[in-house]
Amino acid sequence: MRIESFFDPDTSTYSHLLSDPASQRCAIIDPVLDYDPAAARIGHASADRLIDHVRANGLQVDWLLETHVHADHLSAARYLRERLGGRIGIGAEIPRVQVAFADLFDAEEAFAQDGSQFDRLFADEECFHVGCLPVRVLHTPGHTPACVSYLVGDAAFIGDTLFMPDSGTARCDFPGGDARQLYRSIQRLFALPASTRLFLCHDYKAPGREHHCCQTTVGEQRAHNIHVGRGTAEADFVAMRTRRDSGLDLPRLMLPAVQVNMRAGNLPPPAANGRRYFKLPLDCF
Ligand SMILES: [Fe+2]
Repeated sequence: MRIESFFDPDTSTYSHLLSDPASQRCAIIDPVLDYDPAAARIGHASADRLIDHVRANGLQVDWLLETHVHADHLSAARYLRERLGGRIGIGAEIPRVQVAFADLFDAEEAFAQDGSQFDRLFADEECFHVGCLPVRVLHTPGHTPACVSYLVGDAAFIGDTLFMPDSGTARCDFPGGDARQLYRSIQRLFALPASTRLFLCHDYKAPGREHHCCQTTVGEQRAHNIHVGRGTAEADFVAMRTRRDSGLDLPRLMLPAVQVNMRAGNLPPPAANGRRYFKLPLDCF
């Protein structure tokens, strides 16, 4: 198999392209839709870069995979599906996220809260294929209640379950997030062979490190992760994570991002005047 990673410097997001050379079929994991919040303008440069790469390499897209409903960038899954084909997949717990955010954003009546905007909802331990490559889904909640990791051969795409060892772990204070669950999800990943390659969704480059990086291993994480490595006890992790989360600002693009990502990459429906709007709930965070 082949894995190529694409970095979006605006949101520090990594999108990954997993391809099967034998069949020329591929999956795109966590693609980014650009967004300028000052102008409320959507952009497609990041997504078009993926499209160009897929076409230049003669690949067919089987899947557009989300590890979770992201709060830091908008998803390009829908835009890519319209241009490249493929099916959009996400974890089966997605309705829990949709219910929470439908309430917060007072979503339109037609907004289904059963995950039906996505083409496939993956249950824990479910298997599917990218070309001839078997992929196993692990439910790894905690950062959000619907987070999943995708395991293929010696590689795992783990979303925001872990950051680089020098950066630790993702926050657990979004609706349905749970530090105890995240700790247990991480233990599931730690039970994989030490040489398993872990591909991350973000890297914010820890102080002192020169380059952004999106790849580490289970062994490196077990030994060196500053939040959960070296045998950190569950209670200590939960106390640290809860304390840390209480002081974090909201992600810059969270409010627009969630309104797109809970709709599988669809924009909110147009208002009576034909324009589309994002909503900003006041004094909720
Ligand atoms: Fe996230």
